[in-house]
Amino acid sequence: MTDKKRCFAVLTGGGDCPGLNAVIRAVVKTFLQNGCDVYGVHNGFNGLVNDNLQKMDYASVSGILPRGGTILGTTNRDNPFKFAIEQEDGSIIYKDMREKVLENLRKYDIEALVVIGGDGSLNIGAQLARECGIKVVGCPKTIDNDLPCTERTFGFDTAMAMATEALDRLHTTAESHHRVMVLEVMGRYAGWIALHSGIAGGADVILLPEIPYQLDSVIAKIEQRKAAGKNFSIIVAAEGAKPEGGEMSVARLVKGSFEPIRLGGIGEKVANAIEERTGIESRCTVLGYLQRGGSPSAFDRVLSTRYGVAAAEACLRGEYNVMVSLYHDQIVTVYIQKAAAKPRQVPVDSEIIRTGRQLGICFGD
Ligand code: F6P
Repeated sequence: MTDKKRCFAVLTGGGDCPGLNAVIRAVVKTFLQNGCDVYGVHNGFNGLVNDNLQKMDYASVSGILPRGGTILGTTNRDNPFKFAIEQEDGSIIYKDMREKVLENLRKYDIEALVVIGGDGSLNIGAQLARECGIKVVGCPKTIDNDLPCTERTFGFDTAMAMATEALDRLHTTAESHHRVMVLEVMGRYAGWIALHSGIAGGADVILLPEIPYQLDSVIAKIEQRKAAGKNFSIIVAAEGAKPEGGEMSVARLVKGSFEPIRLGGIGEKVANAIEERTGIESRCTVLGYLQRGGSPSAFDRVLSTRYGVAAAEACLRGEYNVMVSLYHDQIVTVYIQKAAAKPRQVPVDSEIIRTGRQLGICFGD
């Protein structure tokens, strides 16, 4: 009599992010190398509800290491506990589909699920573990780098490099036209991308959600540079930056998404206000989804691969309801419930903020 093969599944949830394919590849290869079966779930939790699973083999993950996006597809809308179902009249009702998830996992005899996602997907993973007894291992994905219990999420390094390149390019126009150039970057409620790219790209002003800004300080910095013979300035604004006593800029409200608010517009506001107050031509560039697309950096490929192998290894040794995480350059595991807690912001008294201040960077305070 032969031993029954162990069987696992992997899904990607939330916004796409450089390194997703590298994680999928590492997860699948590790399971296959250890004699297990592995299914890829299409389109995040939607595929678990709608039975959209694909058995993976070496060929399914061949050549995907440098590719952006996710070969499995993703969505930041489908939550099995509040699943949107369209009615005949076009209206939407929300249903709890946890039984469907359990049924499909049983159908393929899946022992545990690797959830590659940000806080929305990890929260769902944690709820599946808590309320349905599903065995889950999380893997921290997001360009925003804002997940607690890990020092790094994969995707951040690539996004930061993209934003840095954008700043290098904006310098050219800023210098030639004697303009103020504002770059709006992503990051939701955390300023990691803005802070790191701002330092790497030599920004003069960095506006973060963690430090509400005063327009007067920003203008004082620009005027001070002008007085010193610098006729241009470079500003990085995190999409979640806000003025002191004011609110974040909301581009629109989104129904049915993990994230009900789409941030955006702060860069344009800041550029307009500067031009009005100083008379210096000011322009805004919104970097947007360019930060999320394309090939992962070498750092992200390595981190994603380490996370993928570690997530599969956790499953193999039966260590469940954890997230793999980076701690002092080692991959460790932390309880998924803890990892799915509130976003990790930039500590305002951190060494990297102090570094920026020592360089004379204005943080708007
Ligand atoms: O979390 C990643 C992220 O790109 C954020 O930086 C941004 O606010 C958000 O996703 C945008 O999400 P969507 O894909 O819904 O526009």
